[in-house]
Amino acid sequence: MRETTAGGGVFPARGSDEEDVLKELEEKTGGDLTFDSGKILGSMCTHPHPLAVKVVQRYIDRNLGDPGLHVGSQGVEREAVDMLASLLGLEKGYGHIVSGGTEANILAVRAFRNLADVEKPELILPESAHFSFIKAGEMLGVKLAWARLRDDYSVDVKDVESKITDNTIGIVGIAGTTGLGVVDDIPALSDLAMDYGLPLHVDAAFGGFVIPFAKALGYDIPDFDFRLKGVKSITIDPHKMGMVPIPAGGIIFRERKYLEAISVLAPYLAGGKIWQATITGTRPGANALAVWAMIKHLGFEGYMEIVRNAMELSRWFAGELKKIPGVYLVREPVLNIVSFGAKELEKVEEELKKRGWGISAHRGYIRIVMMPHVRREHLEEFLGDLRGILKGL
Ligand SMILES: Cc1ncc(COP(=O)(O)O)c(C=O)c1O
Repeated sequence: MRETTAGGGVFPARGSDEEDVLKELEEKTGGDLTFDSGKILGSMCTHPHPLAVKVVQRYIDRNLGDPGLHVGSQGVEREAVDMLASLLGLEKGYGHIVSGGTEANILAVRAFRNLADVEKPELILPESAHFSFIKAGEMLGVKLAWARLRDDYSVDVKDVESKITDNTIGIVGIAGTTGLGVVDDIPALSDLAMDYGLPLHVDAAFGGFVIPFAKALGYDIPDFDFRLKGVKSITIDPHKMGMVPIPAGGIIFRERKYLEAISVLAPYLAGGKIWQATITGTRPGANALAVWAMIKHLGFEGYMEIVRNAMELSRWFAGELKKIPGVYLVREPVLNIVSFGAKELEKVEEELKKRGWGISAHRGYIRIVMMPHVRREHLEEFLGDLRGILKGL
C-alpha cells in the first residue's frame, strides 16, 4: 500500500495521532466560511443551537433505519413529527425527520405518484419551485408541468388549473420560495385541489419554521398549512430556521395512507422486520432527537423571538438597500429573505465575494437570508462594502 502524499488522496498505510489528524483537518478547512463569522448571508442554514449540538453528540450512534434497536429514539421521532404536525394545524401527523427538504419533497411526490396509479404521471408546480422537484421528477418518472408566476412572484393559480389533466397526480405550492421567500396563495391552491380531487403538497422547507411565528407576530401572510383541507403533505426543515444541525428535514402527511404508499419491507434488520418509507436506510436518530429537544427547549415563544428578530432585521435591511443608488429590491420581503438587483450584478457579486461575503447571485439577484446568526452589525458592514463597490463601478 502506498503512503499518503501531501495531496492526501491515497489510503494511508499507517494511522496518525488524533492531534495530527485534527490539526490537518483544521488546516484543510481553513478556507471554509463559518456561520459565526457573520460572513454567510446567503444560506438557509445556520450555526446550530448549542443544545441541539449536545444532543447530537450524546446520541450520535442511534440509527432510525433500524428502529427495533432504538425503540426509545423511534418514539421521540414520532413525538417530534406530532409536534411539527401540531405547529402546522394537525392533531396527528404521519411522517419522518429526514435528510432535508430534498428528501421530504421526493417522498411527497413518491406518495402522490404511488396513490394516483396513472400511467404517465404529471405534477403541477410553480416556476419558483426548488430544484429538488427536478430530481424527484427524474427519479420517479413524473413529468413536471411548470406553472407561471404572477407579477408578485407567487404562482398563477389560473395557470395551475389550466395544466390539470387526467394524468395529474398532485399540485405543489411553495410557502417561502427559495429565491424570494414568497408564499403562494395556498388557500386558493387548496380549493383548486379539492375541486379536482387532487392532493396538494406544500413545500414549507424554509417557511415552516417562520410563517407560524410571523403570523402570531401580526405579519400578514397567507394560510399555508393543514388547516386548509386540500393540503395533504408539508415539507418543513428543522435544519433551516429550526436551528438543528444538518441533516434534519421534515415530511408530514395528513393521513397514514401516504406513508403506507411509500413503505417497503426491510426484512433483515437486527431489530426485526419493519416497513421503511424514507429514501435513506440507515439514518441519524441523533438529529431527530435534536429536533424534539429544540422544540421542547424553545417552544412557540422561543421560536417567535428568533423570527421576530429575523423579520425586523429584514425590513430594516430592505429599507437601507432602497437608499443605495443603483440598487433595487426584487420585491418587498414577505419572510426573512431580502433579494436585490443592482447594476453590473455579476461584477458586484464578484467584488462582494472577494471581500469574503458568502452570497451568490442567480436569477438576476442576490439573496440575503436573515438567519439567526446574521446580526445588524454584519449587515451594516455588508452595506458599507456594497456602497463602496457600486461607487467604484
Ligand atoms: C423551498 C425549498 N425546498 C426545498 C429545499 C431543499 O432543502 P435541502 O437543501 O435541505 O434538501 C430548499 C433549500 O433551500 C428550499 O428552499
